[in-house]
Amino acid sequence: MTASIEELAARVRARAGAEPVAVGLILGSGLGHVAAGVDGVAIGYEDLPGFPHAGVSGHRAELVVGALEGVRVAILSGRAHYYETGDPAAMRRPLEVLAALGADRLVLTNAAGSLRGDIRTGDLMLLSDHINFSGLNPLIGEPSDRRFVPMGEAHDPRLRAAMRAAAAAEQVALPEGVYAWYSGPSFETPAEIRAIRTLGADAVGMSTVPEVILARFLGLRVAAISTITNMAAGLSDEAISHEHTKAMAPLGAAKLERVLRRWLRETGGRG
Ligand code: HPA
Repeated sequence: MTASIEELAARVRARAGAEPVAVGLILGSGLGHVAAGVDGVAIGYEDLPGFPHAGVSGHRAELVVGALEGVRVAILSGRAHYYETGDPAAMRRPLEVLAALGADRLVLTNAAGSLRGDIRTGDLMLLSDHINFSGLNPLIGEPSDRRFVPMGEAHDPRLRAAMRAAAAAEQVALPEGVYAWYSGPSFETPAEIRAIRTLGADAVGMSTVPEVILARFLGLRVAAISTITNMAAGLSDEAISHEHTKAMAPLGAAKLERVLRRWLRETGGRG
């Protein structure tokens, strides 16, 4: 029997305390370090029925709840990707639990390839919008009319402005761009990259978009930041591999952590 969302939330509260969570975070490849700074409790996904097995190396699999820069956060350290199971809704349960714990904002992070010459390996990119290039949707099969989620401002203008301000205060460049979700797990061909560049993409990756859709479905406001780990296929001689992604993610991760901490500190996670 799987536990209900309320049962799962109660289980988390029993371990981490009843204080409501303000902000949810999802940490992508090689970005797990942010969770280490949280003054709180880590609960393995294996203790939370219905949470995914995060089976991708470079990803942990735990929910960390506690204070970061004085703000109550719940961090999903490790995500399940569509390509692991074929389920685009693999992160639905964790996001439902975050919402049940009180989170009304979600910050997503990921590793991505850049399609833009002015956004290079080691840089960050704030998602202004996204393209669901996979054609998949985590809300297929959702019976309620709530499935018709408006996506006009999926990437929240106010949260993005607060992120840009935090980045400026940290003197970290945070250009905005459009992220295209490619299902993976194979990387893109150069022709596919040329195609999505024509369609308006600035970066490409294998995650985040289904989570943004689910978060909007659950009423969370969303901001997402990519750390660029490589130039996309065909755009440079740089290697494109999972090893390379993991090796390069820390370049951006340190900057990303500064931006996130500054945002939490200056806005209390409001914004
Ligand atoms: N493509 C897709 N996903 C990625 C890439 C890429 O080039 N780099 C990191 N994640």
